[in-house]
Amino acid sequence: MKSPDMSKSTILVTGCCGFIGSAFLRRMVAQYPQSQFINIDKLTYAGNLNNLKSIEAKKNYHFIHGDILDRDKVESIFQEYKPNIIVNFAAESHVDRSILDPTSFLETNVLGTLMLLENAKKIWQSFDDKRFIQISTDEVYGSLSETDPPFNERNNLQPNSPYSASKASADLLIRAYYETYGFPALISRCSNNYGPYQHPEKLISLAIVSLFLKKPIPVYGDGRQIRDWIYVDDHADAIECLIQNGEIGEVYNFGGESEKRNIDVIQSICDIFDRIRAQKEGESRKLIIFVKDRPGHDKRYAMDISYVKEELNWNPSTSFEVGLNKTIDWYQKNEMWWVPLLQGELKDYYKKQYHL
Ligand SMILES: NC(=O)c1ccc[n+]([C@@H]2O[C@H](COP(=O)([O-])OP(=O)(O)OC[C@H]3O[C@@H](n4cnc5c(N)ncnc54)[C@H](O)[C@@H]3O)[C@@H](O)[C@H]2O)c1
Repeated sequence: MKSPDMSKSTILVTGCCGFIGSAFLRRMVAQYPQSQFINIDKLTYAGNLNNLKSIEAKKNYHFIHGDILDRDKVESIFQEYKPNIIVNFAAESHVDRSILDPTSFLETNVLGTLMLLENAKKIWQSFDDKRFIQISTDEVYGSLSETDPPFNERNNLQPNSPYSASKASADLLIRAYYETYGFPALISRCSNNYGPYQHPEKLISLAIVSLFLKKPIPVYGDGRQIRDWIYVDDHADAIECLIQNGEIGEVYNFGGESEKRNIDVIQSICDIFDRIRAQKEGESRKLIIFVKDRPGHDKRYAMDISYVKEELNWNPSTSFEVGLNKTIDWYQKNEMWWVPLLQGELKDYYKKQYHL
């Protein structure tokens, strides 16, 4: 089966009004003007049309407000556009929310994926340049101790939260479609993303907006949990690379080679704010407060990315320091984007989650 030519394809993307999907689309729509991009998004609390303002009027971009669980709508999109590439970003993506209520996670992340697989299987029989990319996560592998080697693609799936269990379930479904039907799918498993346009419910964006507002920055437990961080544009670049050069049926781990304890990440952000505000070193750190730990909180995630370096010639290009400064700078210049998000739903969630 030949690899699709991204410069003349019809690419169905899901959930691209969210953080990572919008970063991917902002780049790809401009880079491939001869290809068509169709984005279906339900616009949950995490979906934001402002993330795609810069491309919304482009001739090769089409937005469809819809749920990937809506059988009729999904079927009609496949019939009308006949996409040869699908990239499935759509998901409920926040672990804490999955602990409060797992149902929508299982519905969107598992049954939504099934809906896309079934529709693609139906129309793809006569296509020879087709590809389905599932955007999965490092969290499907479970948790590491501080001394364990990083996860590689052969590690067992041992998810610990309802979110990671739903993502692992979708990965297994995709594997089954490949084994059973020869379905042309690939899985990307990536570590924690950060960057512009991230909803202010996640660790780095929450810390940044809290600091701008001089409000407490909640940190779970002792803050010693370790995550690997990747700048979102590097992830977008990885997905493009996978569409063009990945092997069908394969799983690929991506990461930023930047393992950090949560507390160190927050303190680094605080120190940048001290510099921005020309205030005494340590001043911003006074806003850090430790809150009750997340139940079942994974201790450490880390990614071995030697396979993608070798097979895809892919490397993360943004260091954590550079990416973090760029991100803070973006939030500083784009208050208009994030201030409206702090009202209503997020305010209630924040109260419920952190008791602040
Ligand atoms: N954020 C990370 O650090 C990270 C890391 C690795 C993998 N991932 C994966 O990457 C993908 C994107 O993550 P993100 O951080 O951009 O998420 P996000 O929460 O910012 O965006 C999710 C998007 O999906 C849409 N959506 C939700 N349910 C839908 C449905 N039923 N039908 C159509 N659209 C729906 C939302 O409206 C939103 O626009 C997810 O699959 C996530 O599991 C995220």
